[in-house]
Amino acid sequence: MIFLVPGGAGYIGSHMVKYLQEAGHEAVVLDDFSTGHEWAVKDSEIMRLSLLDQEALSRALKGRKFDCVIHFAGKSLVDESIKRSNAYYRSNVVGSLNLINELMLNDNNNMVFSSSAAIFGNPITDKINEDHPRDPINPYGRTKLTVENFLEHICDTHGLNATCLRYFNAAGAHHSGTLGEAHEPETHLIPKILNRENYSSENLKVYGDDYDTPDGTCIRDYVHVEDLAQAHLKALEFMQVNKGFYTFNLGNGNGFSVLEVIKACEHVLGRRVDYQFADRREGDPPVLIADSAKAIDQLGWSPQHTSLESIIMSAYFWHLNKSEFSLQ
Ligand code: UFG
Repeated sequence: MIFLVPGGAGYIGSHMVKYLQEAGHEAVVLDDFSTGHEWAVKDSEIMRLSLLDQEALSRALKGRKFDCVIHFAGKSLVDESIKRSNAYYRSNVVGSLNLINELMLNDNNNMVFSSSAAIFGNPITDKINEDHPRDPINPYGRTKLTVENFLEHICDTHGLNATCLRYFNAAGAHHSGTLGEAHEPETHLIPKILNRENYSSENLKVYGDDYDTPDGTCIRDYVHVEDLAQAHLKALEFMQVNKGFYTFNLGNGNGFSVLEVIKACEHVLGRRVDYQFADRREGDPPVLIADSAKAIDQLGWSPQHTSLESIIMSAYFWHLNKSEFSLQ
């Protein structure tokens, strides 16, 4: 099959592209390379353009047929979305609308959309399933929810098939050690711990020690990036039989506090990780844990990395190999 992967040069997108290629499929990467990397998608056809450039997009997609479009393109940092909400609405909402418009014009009718746990806001249940109220507390979550709502409407009215996959905290790296997370600057907890050049406590801040959680730090559900990739292909297989609009939450179903993540990294690194407590980071919900029973039952999703240490281990393997495989 042939896939269009907008945002395919980013962290999750590039793992998706590799997963598709390893499964014998063709992946065409559409990316503006504002945060993605060419070294991450060396073996793919590349359309280098922004979804905000409607004319270039229209030219590039004219007459092109894809079995499915797996749409990752956009901005994805909660903190940045609070400071630059306009850029987030443009990139995530306007960009997605432009893309959907061109896909419909060219009769490309299957899409998997990269959504987020951030659409739920502060949880009112221990684990978050698909029926949980959607009440985002930051602009990033609001942009993702806006696109989900638009897709639902287009599926109802124009015969598009779309599945929205809400990731909890994507982590880890490709099992080969040749591909992994490489944000600049890095803001995510696990790579930040592993990437530190020296281990002084000033380099690592734990945002908030006064949350209503057992150790006072935020709890997150870390899910391996290759397990996320598997779910996308399962979503297409599901949509081939079930037409319409669907949503699935993707996580491991276990929550780990920031301090527990630091402890697990210490085990993997075999050394102490020092840190300092700092103020809470704006826009951070205290706890986010997925209930992924629906994805497991209906998509047949079977995550392979269920332990936090194995996820961190794969990220560390990438960290050790990174300078060889990335051109940084
Ligand atoms: N954290 C620290 N110190 C750091 C970095 C992170 O204490 O230096 C904490 C955060 O406050 C949070 C946890 O570690 O409690 C995880 O933070 P990340 O930045 O790694 O990930 P987020 O939870 O902010 O973000 C992820 C995805 C988003 C998604 C969000 C859902 O990257 O796309 O989960 O809220 F929206």
